[in-house]
Amino acid sequence: MVEAPSLDPAGWPEVEITPRAAKRLAGGHLWVFANEVTAAGDPGRPAFWCRFRTGGNPVGWGCYNRHSLIAGRLFAFGAREDRLDGLLERRLAAAIGRRLPLPPGRAARLVFSEADFLPGLVVDFYPPYGVLQSHTAGIDLVLPLLEEILPAALRRAFGAPPEGLLIRADAPVRELEAVGRFTRVAFGDREALRAAWVEEEGVRFAADLVEGQKTGFFLDQRENRLRFEKAVRQAPGARVLDLFSYSGGWGLRALRAGAGRVVFVEESREALGLLERSLAANGLPRERAALCREDVFEFLARDAGRYDFVVSDPPAFAKSKKALPQAHRAYLKLNRLAWRRLKPGGLLFASSCSRLVSEAEFAGILAAAVRREGGRAHVAYRGMQAPDHPVLLSMPETAYLKCFALRKVEGENGGPPARSFPLISK
Ligand SMILES: C[S@@+](CC[C@H](N)C(=O)[O-])C[C@H]1O[C@@H](n2cnc3c(N)ncnc32)[C@H](O)[C@@H]1O
Repeated sequence: MVEAPSLDPAGWPEVEITPRAAKRLAGGHLWVFANEVTAAGDPGRPAFWCRFRTGGNPVGWGCYNRHSLIAGRLFAFGAREDRLDGLLERRLAAAIGRRLPLPPGRAARLVFSEADFLPGLVVDFYPPYGVLQSHTAGIDLVLPLLEEILPAALRRAFGAPPEGLLIRADAPVRELEAVGRFTRVAFGDREALRAAWVEEEGVRFAADLVEGQKTGFFLDQRENRLRFEKAVRQAPGARVLDLFSYSGGWGLRALRAGAGRVVFVEESREALGLLERSLAANGLPRERAALCREDVFEFLARDAGRYDFVVSDPPAFAKSKKALPQAHRAYLKLNRLAWRRLKPGGLLFASSCSRLVSEAEFAGILAAAVRREGGRAHVAYRGMQAPDHPVLLSMPETAYLKCFALRKVEGENGGPPARSFPLISK
């Protein structure tokens, strides 16, 4: 049983950090690394809420986890005393306020962890349901408090309390905090949460908020998918390949935009089940959709189709620094194979959601992929994570999603493209 912190930080243990760490926190960063902790008050617990100090001077307060390389996460900077519940309430209200007004019924990420000054906490809103994700031991300790505060904050913002609240503490990243994984329905009907619908700009997506991936839907690609739909609309009857389709975020938009055929490739049976339901619910032409439950690399090795649009939206290949070389190779291979399937003049929408791969690195990998295929590409569009996943400028770690649309410039023999789509402008 975890022990919740008292609401008044004045009584919390102290954690002494190096001047270098304190300087970084003063500059707007929110992490203290394990090797920057010089002394940690030991109340006999691996993780606790604490006051950070350097050279005996107060720096701020937040949470500490002796098992994590990111040992400290700052919530309040400066010597000002504040109560934990008051700060969480204010931060939640501010984060939600930044996203308002939401178009009626639209889903959104309401809290994006460090970028909303609530490290380790994510809140997604799929009206009428809320999903709270805890990524850290520190957030786990304040879950009872958040379960009280969050429904009230949602009621104030949207005029009604949520009909269900789900706690998802099941992301693999929790291993780095040495905390177990669990999912719990705080209130509401579990079956209703499993059969939710997510409204996104004219398309309804079936979503399983309890068992589905992440919090049930990939909200972060919203703007990129809309840009893609606009491009498909300019090419009536286009052939589209949606790789790593999950529940069809990209391909359903293509069908809506008049694509002649969309091939969805995804290894998860559950995801394809959601996709089937969404095809029907949106009245989209089932006969134009092919659902392949298969490994993307195996599919690309055997498929001989040629497409006007190829979408590649894989999971994060680089989960740690050690995995970076392998991830680079996987991105290179994937995008080479995807490029081969693209018709001259067509567009490859290539994404990477690996935080450890920068935009410049990913652009370099794409350039290498095209070069090794003997091709030439224009960057027709460059996108990032949706604005409800803001990037905190003082914390580059909050930027993770890259999306490039590459247009195949050359024809098969170096001649002009057989069919060229207009450049997409911002
Ligand atoms: C980032 S998500 C895709 C999100 C989706 N494009 C959307 O917009 O909703 C990655 C997906 O790839 C699937 N996946 C992971 N590895 C795969 C593989 N080797 N072959 C096929 N699918 C894979 C996962 O099941 C997951 O649904």
